Amino acid sequence: MTTHLTTPARHPAPASSTQAAMGPRYHDLLHRLTTAARTSIGFPNAVDIDYRPLGPLLGVLLNNLGDPRVDGIFPMQAKDIERDVLDYFATLFRAPAGWSGYVTSGGTEGTHYGLWLARTRLPNAVAFHSAASHYSVGKAEHLLGLPSVTVAALPNGEINYADLRRQAARFRNRPALVTANIGTTMTEAVDDVHRIHLALDAAGITHRYVHSDAALAGAPLAVTADRPGFDLADGADSISISGHKFFGTPIVCGLVIVRRGLHELPPAIRYTGAPDTSITGSRTGLGAVMLAHALDVLGPAGLFERTQQARAVAAYACRRLQQIGWPHWRNPNAFTVMLREPADPVKAQWRLPSTDGWSHIICMPGVTTHQVDALIGDLTAGREPAASAS
Ligand SMILES: Cc1ncc(COP(=O)(O)O)c(C=O)c1O
Repeated sequence: MTTHLTTPARHPAPASSTQAAMGPRYHDLLHRLTTAARTSIGFPNAVDIDYRPLGPLLGVLLNNLGDPRVDGIFPMQAKDIERDVLDYFATLFRAPAGWSGYVTSGGTEGTHYGLWLARTRLPNAVAFHSAASHYSVGKAEHLLGLPSVTVAALPNGEINYADLRRQAARFRNRPALVTANIGTTMTEAVDDVHRIHLALDAAGITHRYVHSDAALAGAPLAVTADRPGFDLADGADSISISGHKFFGTPIVCGLVIVRRGLHELPPAIRYTGAPDTSITGSRTGLGAVMLAHALDVLGPAGLFERTQQARAVAAYACRRLQQIGWPHWRNPNAFTVMLREPADPVKAQWRLPSTDGWSHIICMPGVTTHQVDALIGDLTAGREPAASAS
């Protein structure tokens, strides 16, 4: 049989012509976003990795439909690249042989997936998370119909281990699912998975599952010698990160790694040729490629160097705040610097999230000391702290 292949309707276009063809509305959007990026230091997205070389891939669909271990029938996928990315992070997070995982839509899906597996393995469990956990944790528990207990947080944002012991002891006859915060959203506090296990031991809990929500800080902490336990060798059963935070991927994505034995590979869906093991069916192939690109750009030493550079900027911010007498503090190894809540114009200019009289900046890779200096200038330019700050 002769096949007549015609030229595909959609061609990957070079970056310049893509830009030229973009409608005015999207030029306006690009202008607004690039302008906002200059003072966007209140949220954790790195801006130092250039993903524009991947631009030609925007001319094709990239959908890693179904389980990453099986290519399936659908051709517009990059699962080989996803598998390389997963291998890298499984090694980084010290996963034992037999681990599995996938590239997710973000940190939220990773936690949802971890708790879903936990519930499958330990029916009748009670879920615990701290008052400082991201709202996505409570949401995942709600979606899964899990009874949910909020544990107190310490002043630095870390889980209160004594309260965890007390709360877990109330349910000592049931399995416990604990989500550990590996970098809380507001203060970047890190819950210690070793201490979580000790608290559960003391509470008399025999069956348990610990998920590490490492959306922000998992990758940088993995290359840090002096850090609390949080990965799979430390006793977590699963771990999830966001791709758009520390790696600054321009599309939102993430990944989850789970230890062995929690998920058997089911038969393939006949229509797709791949097992349906993830929460969403269609999955981002471009997210996987972007993470691979980030790892290529960084190289073996890059992850560590970049982490150190970003922490040095955070330390610089603390020194500058000290110089102007502005109350501030920072958790060990954090990119996040807590500062007494400034007046509204400064908060608006620098997009600073605030709670209980405190705001923060997050010195992600790409945030510069010039930006810190400009913020310090605004803080000192006669603008009083907010009325709520004492
Ligand atoms: C600690 C923590 N967990 C989870 C999330 C949710 O991640 P995503 O926005 O990638 O779904 C965030 C986002 O800010 C976070 O800070």
